[in-house]
Amino acid sequence: MRQRNMSPVASRRTRSRRPDPTARTARAQPPAPHWPRAPRLRRPFRAAALPRRLCGGAAMLRPPRRLPRPLRRATATVAGSGHRLLLSTPIFYANGPPHIGHLYSALLADALHRYRGLRRAGPGRLSTGTDEHGLKIQQAATAAGTSPSELCERASGLFRQALTQAAVSFTDFTRTSEPHHQQAVRHFWGALQDGGALYKGSYEGWYCTPEECFLPESQLAERRDAQGRLCRVSLETGHQVHWTKEENYMFRLSAFQDPLRNWLRDNPRTISPDPFYQLVLHWLEEDLPDLSVSRERSRLQWGIPVPSDSTQTIYVWVDALVNYLSVVGYPETHGEWWPAAHHVVGKDILKFHAVYWPALLIAAGLAPPERIFVHSHWTVHGQKMSKSLGNVIDPFACIRQYTVDGFRYFLLRQGVPERDCDYYDEKVVKLVNSELADALGGLLNRSTALSINPSNTYPCFSQSCFPNVLDYRETKGMGRASAEDYEFVASVASLPLQVASYFEGFQIYKALECIALCVRQTNSFFQRHRPWKLNRKDPAEQLWLDTIIHITLECLRVYGTLLQPVIPHTADRLLSRLGVEPEERDLSSLTFLPRYSGKLCPFEGRQLGPDTGILFHRVEKPRQQQIETKKL
Ligand code: MSP
Repeated sequence: MRQRNMSPVASRRTRSRRPDPTARTARAQPPAPHWPRAPRLRRPFRAAALPRRLCGGAAMLRPPRRLPRPLRRATATVAGSGHRLLLSTPIFYANGPPHIGHLYSALLADALHRYRGLRRAGPGRLSTGTDEHGLKIQQAATAAGTSPSELCERASGLFRQALTQAAVSFTDFTRTSEPHHQQAVRHFWGALQDGGALYKGSYEGWYCTPEECFLPESQLAERRDAQGRLCRVSLETGHQVHWTKEENYMFRLSAFQDPLRNWLRDNPRTISPDPFYQLVLHWLEEDLPDLSVSRERSRLQWGIPVPSDSTQTIYVWVDALVNYLSVVGYPETHGEWWPAAHHVVGKDILKFHAVYWPALLIAAGLAPPERIFVHSHWTVHGQKMSKSLGNVIDPFACIRQYTVDGFRYFLLRQGVPERDCDYYDEKVVKLVNSELADALGGLLNRSTALSINPSNTYPCFSQSCFPNVLDYRETKGMGRASAEDYEFVASVASLPLQVASYFEGFQIYKALECIALCVRQTNSFFQRHRPWKLNRKDPAEQLWLDTIIHITLECLRVYGTLLQPVIPHTADRLLSRLGVEPEERDLSSLTFLPRYSGKLCPFEGRQLGPDTGILFHRVEKPRQQQIETKKL
């Protein structure tokens, strides 16, 4: 994993403390099970607790003078239902076209945002944008024979287009070249300075331009370049590094080691999944050198000048991170949203978000973000995606080939945040065809076929066929449902809670896995009872036939509702076919099979929606491997 670091201008030894696992919140108890085998709930959402001390252990350096009082206020505004929430994707480097790794970051954030909408959890925003300053962009523009602003204009347009085509429901798109963002960065810089968190120092180290950071010796290797000359490269990315020595403004990051540790220990759910939380705690056990937060303007012109020192340009990462504030109106109106922010980030930029960003925020008198969701990377045929290898996968081509929903489903169903995932076309074809076209589409097709449901209505559920029992082993002689049927409906009944807990823990792939399993079980249920063989002229058989279809449609309604954050178009078609109105598609309407417990089912007897044909068409592998086609 890439660990970015700054050259050790100031460092100090730290005490080694292991996290206290007992500090975690207790698990909530599930409600009394209504179905056989009820699911277990994970712990509930918990408001961020306050850091115990803010500048403990920083005695040898001047700690920031202005202590973050908003930290205390922050906890009152987060969590609970009805609170505002800013979800964010990282802002994308505007030095090249989008690839599927970028899209993955954005889709994860989009799925969380849409899921939150289903929960009617309160006002929400989804922010994204482009990261347009820095040496990397300046050099890319020179190489392309264009100006940085023109390059950014084109790249930013492509990112916006890719996200729009992929149905990422962003509410805000920030370009760091925009005046309102630059204004926010200048103000933020002023807050750091006022708080005593900056000082000017001479600085030297190995700078990696593609990663836009200094790397310590431990993260370097030696390699021969094209001319056979020995050079230093980043161990992880293989990019060449250059020795850089200049006068810079430094940020007293080392003063924040204890505050950061306390913040994370008090809020163990801040970083998910857990291995990344542990990793950040581990980083905080090591030296935390101060951070160079400006570059000489003579080397870097493409960036925001340091206020009151026009010889320096603000470090691109400080500039970029402030997008999470500028988007919510910093420095005027951000209080309505901040710090109720959840950042989705790739593992390569975790240190920036989980160490530097919270420290910068605290130093500027603000609270750290509420949560950070971390994901791993996509490789292609086992290799890192890179321009030089020519194996970059173009999201536009993938969407054309596999449809928006097909490709969204693939990335979110196959992407596992804890580990890298490998991309190849055969995998997309196999997964999407089997789970969306065959299993889900097939189920809808079979259960709504005119041959078994000529009235095209949501049929009635019969309790005499499927009696409500406390223990299905005692159903002998009652009804027509088997033990397997009881187990199956129990697993569908528990699905919304399981999905909720997986979304909460940033394991969207697991939520999709559970849904796919239930879809398979529903197909088996349908197949097992062969409703097409039942004699509709026999009233008893008709009751059972109706019950089988009712249960199947209820299952489909649950799947359609829960799949909206991932495959919005297909879910919409599915729910429309079932006759589910738009206002009946949120989680509060998701009581599965209410008639089983003797409650009213609003859908019973209702006319189904029009048949608009196949729910999801099978997809095919492209003739050539999907490689990047869009150019800047
Ligand atoms: N500009 C910075 C982020 C600044 S946020 C304040 C940046 N940009 S990036 O374009 O390089 O990356 C954006 C996102 O794409 C990151 O979350 C990164 O992890 C993700 N990905 C880049 N390559 C990836 C893969 N191969 N696979 C999955 N995600 C990857 O970093």
